[in-house]
Amino acid sequence: AQKIIFDTDPGIDDAMALLFAHALPNIDMVGITTVFGNGTIEDCTRNACYLNDRFNMGATVARGAEGPLTRDPVGPTTVVHGEHGLGTIEAPADQPINIDPRSAPVYMSEMARAHPGEITLVAVGPLTNLALALEYDPEIVNYVKEVVIMGAAFGENGHRGNISPVAEANIYDDPHAADLVFTADWPVTIVGLDVTHQSFFSGDYLDKLRDGAGDVGQFIWDVSRFYLKFYSERIGVDGCHVHDPSAVAYVADPSLFITRQGPVRVVTEGPAIGMTIQKSDDQFYHHDQWSPSRAQNVCVGVENERLLQLYWDSIVSLA
Ligand code: BDR
Ligand code: CA
Repeated sequence: AQKIIFDTDPGIDDAMALLFAHALPNIDMVGITTVFGNGTIEDCTRNACYLNDRFNMGATVARGAEGPLTRDPVGPTTVVHGEHGLGTIEAPADQPINIDPRSAPVYMSEMARAHPGEITLVAVGPLTNLALALEYDPEIVNYVKEVVIMGAAFGENGHRGNISPVAEANIYDDPHAADLVFTADWPVTIVGLDVTHQSFFSGDYLDKLRDGAGDVGQFIWDVSRFYLKFYSERIGVDGCHVHDPSAVAYVADPSLFITRQGPVRVVTEGPAIGMTIQKSDDQFYHHDQWSPSRAQNVCVGVENERLLQLYWDSIVSLA
């Protein structure tokens, strides 16, 4: 099975993705690293410990960054994920916080070095921990197998942003970190709004999961209530996009996605802060800030039905 460290800011869809990674037989989630984002670092770490314990995931949890590298903090997205990140579900106040003594970036570096070429970093929150890992251990690029992130938007199918007209939330929360991660010399695959807005968990799909997938199905239904309320009130649809689980799906079965190659940069200031741009490999420009960095993979197409089936089969197998 593919070893992953799952870097996350739980987060409702983060919880859905964690359960997916836990369920998939070809994924071995050795670690969960936490980052601020949907909630504070305290809430996100408590939620990660709660999910890891409650569903016997058996992962090491390491705590990460409490804020972005240099920009002013944006603050938790309580309107989407609720007061403490998991909608109306509250991790108990006395939840044991069993965390590794190492910080998330140090844990990533040591794990990558202990298992050269075997660890995929799957990051579904702001990319601060990955950027700090690059700073702490620049050689980490030679030890990590691959980096797969949920974040960004490149204008495929009209999707440019969800937190601003031109920025996706995870990139907007720490654009400097994202630019470092995308321009580092390691292979990155970006699963952004271009594809996550092509997939949809309908209200009906989640009802069926509740009825057919035991405790875990019930939990996914419960945790998604707040999220679905946001979607129905703000976007006018019954269901939600498949954000963070799509990054896990890419690791489990890359054939679900169509990708495009080219170097990627991030706008780090001004009104377009957090905007992501990919230059296609075969273009030439006179003023080019892209070419020095390696080509990365951007997902531009997804087989939605197959993705929903894979999620279904995996979650049901836990029942
Ligand atoms: C991303 O932002 C967060 O709200 C979600 O958990 C997801 O990682 C979607 O833009
Ligand atoms: Ca997330």
